[in-house]
Amino acid sequence: MAEESIYSGYPQTDDRYAEPTVRPACFDDFVGQQSVVDNLCIWIQGALNRSESLDHVLLSGPPGLGKTTLAYILAHEMGCELRSTSGPVLGKPKDLVGILTNLQHGDILFIDEIHRMDSRVEEYLYTAMEDYEISIVIDPGPHSRSVTLPLKRFTLVGATTREGLLTAPLRSRFQIAERLDYYPSEELRRIILNSARKMNVKVEKNAAWVMAECARGTPRVANRYLRRIRDVAHARNEAVIGEEMARKGLAMLGVDDNGLCEMDRRILRAIAEKGGNAIGLKTLAVIVGEQEETIEEVYEPYLIRKGLLEKTPRGRTLTTQGSEFAGMGRARNQKNSSLF
Ligand SMILES: Nc1ncnc2c1ncn2[C@@H]1O[C@H](COP(=O)(O)OP(=O)(O)OP(=O)(O)O)[C@@H](O)[C@H]1O
Ligand SMILES: [Mg+2]
Repeated sequence: MAEESIYSGYPQTDDRYAEPTVRPACFDDFVGQQSVVDNLCIWIQGALNRSESLDHVLLSGPPGLGKTTLAYILAHEMGCELRSTSGPVLGKPKDLVGILTNLQHGDILFIDEIHRMDSRVEEYLYTAMEDYEISIVIDPGPHSRSVTLPLKRFTLVGATTREGLLTAPLRSRFQIAERLDYYPSEELRRIILNSARKMNVKVEKNAAWVMAECARGTPRVANRYLRRIRDVAHARNEAVIGEEMARKGLAMLGVDDNGLCEMDRRILRAIAEKGGNAIGLKTLAVIVGEQEETIEEVYEPYLIRKGLLEKTPRGRTLTTQGSEFAGMGRARNQKNSSLF
């Protein structure tokens, strides 16, 4: 699993305990991604009206945008049970066989990080998804025989941050595929205000706006910033998070007014030091001390969206604005160090 920094969209240990309290439980509570939600509502209503299980659903998009949340909402709206597992956990076909044969009619099987599933396990999914049966080999060796087990009609919901890594046979077996995209600040502001209500902390509108602007288009990051700034409020015995406290809290986390964190600035500086030459991902990862996957999935998309970094066939380069930032980043950093 890639790095779990506060700025990344990846889950952190404390999220696993704290997030269920802010995680939306139904579509009414789920902010944004309107076209995805509208589509899913129609597919669900169609299935419910036919009294059938929902077709298999593939949810893709960057970390922390709501794929797992949507899987649970699908189960809630369909009124069915959700069994959850993840690609890397399903090491052997027998792990999957056990889960599949225990599914009841209409259940949702949620497989997170489905792109990281072993290819032998994946092959078992093909007939399970298409024909609702699996063939298993008993007594491997000269006396081996194959037995076909029927399965109940279930719905597979797969989630992936790397849709491109999915094999074509697997992808083609999902009848519904929806892609989540980064959230605009206005939606993140609403998410922060909703989460604040659930966390029993008051946040002024401007403060929510400041946090939303810095949250990298990602609800998980927005909720984490809120959680840390709530600590600042509680540590100071203050009941309301105002704009000044939000800015101070973000500065304590090393986040500047543009939402850039220390790793973003380090990446910009590493490229700037190449003096206009492009730099490859491997070299960049070594220089900044970060995993390639995390740079590609978390930091680069934000820097590209901010218009600071470009990916070219020769490697990564800075835009004119990026070069200006790389210089400013150092100055800001020295200024911020007095905060600690
Ligand atoms: N649309 C939304 N409205 C409100 N809160 C949201 C929304 N999307 C996500 N969240 C919040 O962000 C958190 C992260 O979402 P979630 O775990 O569903 O992301 P994910 O896409 O599954 O990430 P990963 O790829 O790391 O598994 C959730 O716990 C939830 O609180
Ligand atoms: Mg998830």
